Amino acid sequence: MEEPKKATNVVWHEGKINKADRRQLKKHNSAVLWFTGLSGAGKSTLAVEVERELYRRGINTYILDGDNVRHGLNKNLGFSPEDRKENIRRIGEVGKLFVDAGVMTLTAFISPYQEDREQVRALLDDDEFVEVYVKCDLEEAEERDPKGLYKKARSGEIKGFTGIDAPYEAPENPELVVATDQLTLEASVQKVVNFLLEKGYIES
Ligand code: ADX
Repeated sequence: MEEPKKATNVVWHEGKINKADRRQLKKHNSAVLWFTGLSGAGKSTLAVEVERELYRRGINTYILDGDNVRHGLNKNLGFSPEDRKENIRRIGEVGKLFVDAGVMTLTAFISPYQEDREQVRALLDDDEFVEVYVKCDLEEAEERDPKGLYKKARSGEIKGFTGIDAPYEAPENPELVVATDQLTLEASVQKVVNFLLEKGYIES
Protein backbone atom coordinates (compact mmCIF):
# COMPACT_ATOMS: atom_id res chain seq x y z
CA MET A 1 0.00 0.00 0.00
CA GLU A 2 1.16 3.49 -0.78
CA GLU A 3 2.27 5.69 2.12
CA PRO A 4 -0.09 8.59 2.75
CA LYS A 5 1.26 12.01 1.87
CA LYS A 6 2.32 13.79 5.05
CA ALA A 7 2.82 17.26 3.66
CA THR A 8 -0.27 19.42 3.57
CA ASN A 9 -0.69 22.84 2.00
CA VAL A 10 1.57 22.02 -0.91
CA VAL A 11 0.40 22.93 -4.37
CA TRP A 12 1.91 21.65 -7.61
CA HIS A 13 3.67 24.45 -9.49
CA GLU A 14 3.58 24.06 -13.26
CA GLY A 15 6.66 25.05 -15.26
CA LYS A 16 6.64 26.54 -18.74
CA ILE A 17 8.77 23.84 -20.30
CA ASN A 18 7.41 20.31 -20.23
CA LYS A 19 8.59 16.76 -20.88
CA ALA A 20 7.72 16.96 -24.57
CA ASP A 21 9.75 20.18 -24.93
CA ARG A 22 12.75 18.62 -23.23
CA ARG A 23 12.52 15.52 -25.39
CA GLN A 24 12.31 17.68 -28.48
CA LEU A 25 15.42 19.61 -27.48
CA LYS A 26 17.34 16.38 -26.84
CA LYS A 27 15.89 14.80 -29.98
CA HIS A 28 15.08 11.49 -28.33
CA ASN A 29 12.63 9.71 -26.11
CA SER A 30 12.96 9.17 -22.38
CA ALA A 31 12.04 6.13 -20.32
CA VAL A 32 13.19 3.99 -17.40
CA LEU A 33 15.02 0.80 -18.27
CA TRP A 34 14.45 -1.13 -15.08
CA PHE A 35 17.02 -3.92 -14.64
CA THR A 36 15.91 -6.40 -11.98
CA GLY A 37 17.49 -9.66 -10.89
CA LEU A 38 19.55 -11.43 -8.26
CA SER A 39 22.71 -9.96 -6.81
CA GLY A 40 25.49 -11.02 -9.17
CA ALA A 41 23.10 -11.53 -12.10
CA GLY A 42 24.86 -8.75 -14.00
CA LYS A 43 22.40 -5.85 -13.72
CA SER A 44 25.01 -3.15 -13.19
CA THR A 45 27.42 -4.63 -15.71
CA LEU A 46 24.68 -4.73 -18.34
CA ALA A 47 23.38 -1.25 -17.50
CA VAL A 48 26.90 0.19 -17.78
CA GLU A 49 27.45 -1.33 -21.22
CA VAL A 50 23.97 -0.40 -22.49
CA GLU A 51 24.59 3.16 -21.30
CA ARG A 52 27.87 3.26 -23.21
CA GLU A 53 26.10 2.12 -26.37
CA LEU A 54 23.32 4.69 -25.93
CA TYR A 55 25.87 7.44 -25.31
CA ARG A 56 27.64 6.43 -28.51
CA ARG A 57 24.32 6.97 -30.27
CA GLY A 58 23.99 10.49 -28.87
CA ILE A 59 21.45 9.71 -26.19
CA ASN A 60 21.38 11.48 -22.82
CA THR A 61 21.51 8.82 -20.14
CA TYR A 62 21.86 8.29 -16.43
CA ILE A 63 22.31 5.18 -14.28
CA LEU A 64 20.75 4.79 -10.87
CA ASP A 65 22.51 1.84 -9.25
CA GLY A 66 21.51 0.17 -6.00
CA ASP A 67 24.96 -0.02 -4.48
CA ASN A 68 25.64 3.63 -5.40
CA VAL A 69 22.30 5.11 -4.40
CA ARG A 70 22.58 3.34 -1.05
CA HIS A 71 25.72 5.43 -0.39
CA GLY A 72 23.72 8.65 -0.59
CA LEU A 73 20.01 9.23 -1.11
CA ASN A 74 19.10 5.85 0.39
CA LYS A 75 21.86 5.40 2.94
CA ASN A 76 19.28 5.29 5.73
CA LEU A 77 17.76 2.11 4.30
CA GLY A 78 18.67 -1.52 4.96
CA PHE A 79 17.37 -4.75 3.49
CA SER A 80 14.19 -5.49 5.42
CA PRO A 81 11.14 -5.87 3.14
CA GLU A 82 9.96 -2.40 4.26
CA ASP A 83 13.31 -0.77 3.53
CA ARG A 84 13.59 -2.46 0.15
CA LYS A 85 10.10 -1.22 -0.63
CA GLU A 86 11.07 2.33 0.28
CA ASN A 87 14.31 1.98 -1.68
CA ILE A 88 12.34 1.06 -4.80
CA ARG A 89 9.65 3.66 -4.20
CA ARG A 90 12.24 6.44 -4.04
CA ILE A 91 14.03 5.19 -7.12
CA GLY A 92 10.70 5.03 -8.94
CA GLU A 93 10.06 8.66 -8.05
CA VAL A 94 13.59 9.71 -9.00
CA GLY A 95 13.26 7.73 -12.24
CA LYS A 96 10.04 9.60 -12.98
CA LEU A 97 11.81 12.93 -12.49
CA PHE A 98 14.61 11.84 -14.81
CA VAL A 99 12.08 10.78 -17.46
CA ASP A 100 10.43 14.17 -17.08
CA ALA A 101 13.86 15.71 -17.58
CA GLY A 102 14.10 13.84 -20.88
CA VAL A 103 16.80 11.41 -19.85
CA MET A 104 17.02 7.74 -20.81
CA THR A 105 17.37 6.32 -17.31
CA LEU A 106 18.80 2.93 -16.43
CA THR A 107 18.22 1.49 -12.98
CA ALA A 108 20.00 -1.51 -11.48
CA PHE A 109 18.29 -2.72 -8.30
CA ILE A 110 17.51 -6.24 -7.18
CA SER A 111 13.94 -5.00 -6.60
CA PRO A 112 12.85 -8.46 -5.46
CA TYR A 113 9.15 -7.78 -4.98
CA GLN A 114 6.72 -7.84 -7.90
CA GLU A 115 4.38 -5.42 -6.12
CA ASP A 116 7.08 -2.79 -5.64
CA ARG A 117 8.08 -2.97 -9.30
CA GLU A 118 4.43 -2.72 -10.33
CA GLN A 119 4.11 0.43 -8.25
CA VAL A 120 6.95 2.00 -10.17
CA ARG A 121 5.34 0.95 -13.44
CA ALA A 122 2.11 2.61 -12.29
CA LEU A 123 3.94 5.88 -11.58
CA LEU A 124 5.02 6.20 -15.18
CA ASP A 125 3.17 6.44 -18.48
CA ASP A 126 2.49 3.19 -20.31
CA ASP A 127 5.56 3.05 -22.51
CA GLU A 128 7.92 4.69 -20.06
CA PHE A 129 8.73 1.63 -17.96
CA VAL A 130 10.76 -1.12 -19.56
CA GLU A 131 11.22 -4.00 -17.16
CA VAL A 132 14.32 -5.98 -18.03
CA TYR A 133 14.63 -9.25 -16.16
CA VAL A 134 18.33 -9.95 -15.84
CA LYS A 135 17.96 -13.69 -15.46
CA CYS A 136 20.66 -15.82 -13.95
CA ASP A 137 20.52 -19.10 -12.08
CA LEU A 138 21.13 -18.67 -8.37
CA GLU A 139 23.82 -21.32 -8.66
CA GLU A 140 25.67 -19.30 -11.29
CA ALA A 141 25.25 -15.99 -9.42
CA GLU A 142 26.56 -17.66 -6.29
CA GLU A 143 29.53 -19.04 -8.15
CA ARG A 144 30.34 -15.60 -9.57
CA ASP A 145 29.93 -14.00 -6.12
CA PRO A 146 31.69 -10.80 -7.27
CA LYS A 147 31.48 -9.15 -3.84
CA GLY A 148 31.84 -12.29 -1.71
CA LEU A 149 28.36 -11.68 -0.28
CA TYR A 150 26.84 -15.08 -1.06
CA LYS A 151 29.66 -16.64 0.93
CA LYS A 152 28.84 -14.38 3.86
CA ALA A 153 25.11 -15.11 3.49
CA ARG A 154 25.75 -18.88 3.50
CA SER A 155 27.87 -18.60 6.63
CA GLY A 156 25.16 -16.56 8.34
CA GLU A 157 27.26 -13.40 8.49
CA ILE A 158 24.62 -11.59 6.38
CA LYS A 159 20.99 -12.23 7.18
CA GLY A 160 18.11 -11.82 4.75
CA PHE A 161 20.19 -12.09 1.61
CA THR A 162 18.17 -12.26 -1.62
CA GLY A 163 18.09 -15.78 -3.03
CA ILE A 164 19.44 -17.34 0.18
CA ASP A 165 17.12 -16.41 3.01
CA ALA A 166 15.10 -13.63 1.39
CA PRO A 167 12.88 -14.04 -1.66
CA TYR A 168 13.30 -12.94 -5.24
CA GLU A 169 10.03 -12.75 -7.15
CA ALA A 170 10.81 -13.09 -10.83
CA PRO A 171 8.93 -10.69 -13.11
CA GLU A 172 5.70 -12.16 -14.46
CA ASN A 173 5.46 -10.02 -17.56
CA PRO A 174 8.73 -8.23 -18.22
CA GLU A 175 9.23 -6.35 -21.48
CA LEU A 176 12.49 -8.19 -21.89
CA VAL A 177 14.38 -11.17 -20.45
CA VAL A 178 18.14 -11.23 -20.71
CA ALA A 179 19.66 -14.51 -19.57
CA THR A 180 23.18 -13.54 -18.59
CA ASP A 181 24.04 -17.16 -17.76
CA GLN A 182 23.44 -18.03 -21.41
CA LEU A 183 24.44 -14.95 -23.38
CA THR A 184 27.73 -13.11 -23.66
CA LEU A 185 27.76 -9.55 -22.34
CA GLU A 186 27.93 -8.30 -25.92
CA ALA A 187 24.86 -10.33 -26.94
CA SER A 188 23.01 -9.17 -23.84
CA VAL A 189 23.69 -5.51 -24.69
CA GLN A 190 22.61 -6.14 -28.27
CA LYS A 191 19.35 -7.68 -27.08
CA VAL A 192 18.47 -4.58 -25.06
CA VAL A 193 19.49 -2.19 -27.84
CA ASN A 194 17.54 -4.19 -30.44
CA PHE A 195 14.45 -4.01 -28.27
CA LEU A 196 14.80 -0.24 -27.95
CA LEU A 197 15.22 0.08 -31.72
CA GLU A 198 12.28 -2.23 -32.54
CA LYS A 199 9.93 -0.47 -30.16
CA GLY A 200 10.98 2.97 -31.35
CA TYR A 201 12.56 4.14 -28.09
CA ILE A 202 15.67 4.99 -30.07
CA GLU A 203 16.38 5.44 -33.75
CA SER A 204 19.22 3.79 -35.65
S1 ADX B 1 16.97 -4.03 -3.24
O1 ADX B 1 16.55 -5.38 -2.83
O2 ADX B 1 16.57 -3.01 -2.27
O3 ADX B 1 16.53 -3.71 -4.61
P1 ADX B 1 19.58 -3.07 -3.99
O4 ADX B 1 19.66 -3.40 -5.42
O5 ADX B 1 19.28 -1.65 -3.62
O6 ADX B 1 18.57 -4.09 -3.25
O7 ADX B 1 20.96 -3.44 -3.28
C1 ADX B 1 21.50 -4.71 -3.48
C2 ADX B 1 23.00 -4.74 -3.22
O8 ADX B 1 23.24 -4.54 -1.84
C3 ADX B 1 23.55 -6.10 -3.57
O9 ADX B 1 24.10 -6.10 -4.87
C4 ADX B 1 24.61 -6.32 -2.54
O10 ADX B 1 25.82 -5.77 -2.99
C5 ADX B 1 24.19 -5.49 -1.35
N1 ADX B 1 23.53 -6.23 -0.25
C6 ADX B 1 23.88 -6.12 1.05
N2 ADX B 1 23.07 -6.84 1.83
C7 ADX B 1 22.16 -7.44 1.02
C8 ADX B 1 21.06 -8.32 1.26
N3 ADX B 1 20.72 -8.71 2.48
N4 ADX B 1 20.35 -8.76 0.18
C9 ADX B 1 20.68 -8.36 -1.04
N5 ADX B 1 21.71 -7.52 -1.33
C10 ADX B 1 22.46 -7.06 -0.30
